Amino acid sequence: MSIKKIIILLLISFVLTVLFIVSFTEVDVQKFDNNSNINQLPNLFEASNKHGKGATYSSAGGIDFNNPFFKSLGSNGRSCATCHVPTEGWTITPKGVQALFDKTKGQDPLFRLVDGANSPLANVATLEERRVAYSMLLNKANIRVGIGIPDDAEFKLIKVDDPYGYASETELSLFRRPLPTTNLKFLNTIMWEGRETTSEVNSSDCIFATDTCFAPLSTDLGSQANNATRGHAEALQDLTIEQRIAIVDFELSLFSAQIYDNDIGSLTQNNAKGGPKELARQTDYFGINDTVSGDYRTREVFNPVAMSLYDVWDSQDANELKSSPGDYYDKRAAIARGQHIFNATPIQISGVSGLNDELGIDVIPGTCSTCHNTPNVGNHSVPLPINIGVSDASRRTADVPLYTLQNNMTGETVEITDPGRALITGKWKDIGRFKGPTLRSAASRPPYFHDGSASDLNAVVDFYIARFNIGFTGREKADLVAFLAAL
Ligand code: HEC
Ligand code: HEC
Repeated sequence: MSIKKIIILLLISFVLTVLFIVSFTEVDVQKFDNNSNINQLPNLFEASNKHGKGATYSSAGGIDFNNPFFKSLGSNGRSCATCHVPTEGWTITPKGVQALFDKTKGQDPLFRLVDGANSPLANVATLEERRVAYSMLLNKANIRVGIGIPDDAEFKLIKVDDPYGYASETELSLFRRPLPTTNLKFLNTIMWEGRETTSEVNSSDCIFATDTCFAPLSTDLGSQANNATRGHAEALQDLTIEQRIAIVDFELSLFSAQIYDNDIGSLTQNNAKGGPKELARQTDYFGINDTVSGDYRTREVFNPVAMSLYDVWDSQDANELKSSPGDYYDKRAAIARGQHIFNATPIQISGVSGLNDELGIDVIPGTCSTCHNTPNVGNHSVPLPINIGVSDASRRTADVPLYTLQNNMTGETVEITDPGRALITGKWKDIGRFKGPTLRSAASRPPYFHDGSASDLNAVVDFYIARFNIGFTGREKADLVAFLAAL
C-alpha cells in the first residue's frame, strides 16, 4: 500500500470517528451530566419541533457542560438539566420524557419518587409499576410540586380528591410544567406563582407609584437554584456562592426562539426579526410598555402593538401575494397576519381575578398583548399574578387532584386544581393566580399552561376562544397559531 493510500485511510477513519462521536452528541444530549465526555454545544445549536426548529444563542459563546447547571449537585443523581433539557426548550416535553423512560426502563434520575412520581409513596419496583407511577411525567411532562396550606391562610382545605391518594393540607400535590431556564433576562416573576420573587424595599424595580418593590433578578435566581438543588435534587447541603453565581450567569446568558419554520425556512429572511440572536438584542426593563401605567421609563402610554417581529413580511407579502399566490407567501403572510391578530383583535377581558377585580373594571377591552405586553417577548412586564381560569374545577381532568377550599370568614367554598399564589400569600383573593409566562420559543415546549393542559398551540387558542368568547374565523385561528409557532 502506498503512503498516499495509508494517509487517505487514516483520514477516512478519523472522519468516521468524529462522525461517530458527533452522532452520540445528538442522541445523548439528555445525558450530558456526570458520565458524559461531551464538553459543549455550539452556539445557535438547533433542535427540531413540530413546527420547525428552535435555537439557542448564548452571549457566552456556547453551552458549556462543565457549568454546575449540568452537574449532579444533590443526592439523587439529578442536575438542573434533568428537567431543563437544552433540546426540549430548556424544559422537558412528553416526547423527550417517554424516550428517556423507554431507554432507561424508567430508571433515569428524572424518575424519582420525590417529585417525579404522581405520589412519593407509589410502588416503583417493576417496569409496569413505574409506567403507572410516573404517568403525569410521561403524559404531560409535569413535575409534582408539593406545597402546604400556610399557617395564617384566610382559608382551609376542606376536601381533597387526589387520584393518587397522597395530597393533604400539609402538602398539596400540584402538577406543573417546568418553566424554561432560557430568556430569563426578561423575567420579573420567578416560578408560576412567583414564589421565588422577593420584595426589597431599597430597590428601584417598583410597581408604579407604590412601595411594592422587588429584589434584583440575579438574587432571586441564586436562591431559586439553591432551593431547586435542595428540593428536586434532594441535596443535603446548600450550593456554594460560587455555584449559585455560575448557574445564574449561565442561565442569564441564554436566549431561545424559533429559528426555522417547516413551510418557509428561516424566520429571519427579508430582515424579519425571528430567531434568538435578534432576541438577545431586544430592549427590556422593569415596567417596559406597562399596560396600566404606561412605560415606566419613557412615560409613553401602553402600546398594544407589543409584537413587531414580522412587520416586514406584512407589507412585502401583501404586495408579492398579488403576483405570486402560493404556499410560500401564504405562510409568511399568515405569520404576519397572526402577529396583527395578537396585537389588535379585540378581547373582552372579564372575570380575571387579579385584573378585573383589582382595577374595579368589569369588562376590559383588550387584546392578547394586554397581558403579554413585554415587547417581542410576551410575558407581563411587571409582576401580575392573575387567574385566567386554567385551574377551574370545570376544566379538571380525572388525572389531576381537585381541592375544595373554604373561606374562614365568609364560609364560601371554591373547587380548584391548583390554588397558585394563594398557597404563598395565604390570601383568598390569590386563589388560582399565576404569572403570564414569556412566549418566545413556545413551539419547542408543548404542552402549555402551568399544568400542561393544552397539548398544542391550537389548544391554547381554543382555550382563549372559549374563555373570552372570541369570534375567530378558522383562518384567523390558523394565522394566530402560525404566529405563536414562529416565536
Ligand atoms: C425535577 C425537575 C426539576 C429540576 C431537577 C430542576 N427544576 Fe427548575 N423547575 C422545575 C419546575 C417544575 C419548575 C416550575 C415550578 C413552579 O413554578 O412551581 C421549575 C422552574 C424553574 C425556574 C423558574 C423559571 C421561571 O420562568 O420562573 C428556574 C429559573 C429553574 N427552574 C432553574 C433550575 C435550576 C437552576 C435547577 C438546578 C439547580 C433546576 N431548575 C432543577 C423542575 C425542575
Ligand atoms: C387576561 C390576561 C391574558 C390574556 C388576555 C391572554 N393571556 Fe395568554 N396567558 C396569560 C396567563 C396568566 C397565562 C398562564 C396561565 C396558566 O398557566 O395558568 C397565559 C399563558 C399563555 C400561553 C402558554 C405559555 C406557556 O408557556 O405555557 C400562551 C401560548 C398564551 N398565553 C397566548 C395567548 C394568546 C394567543 C392570547 C390572545 C388570544 C392570550 N394569551 C391572551 C394571560 C393572558
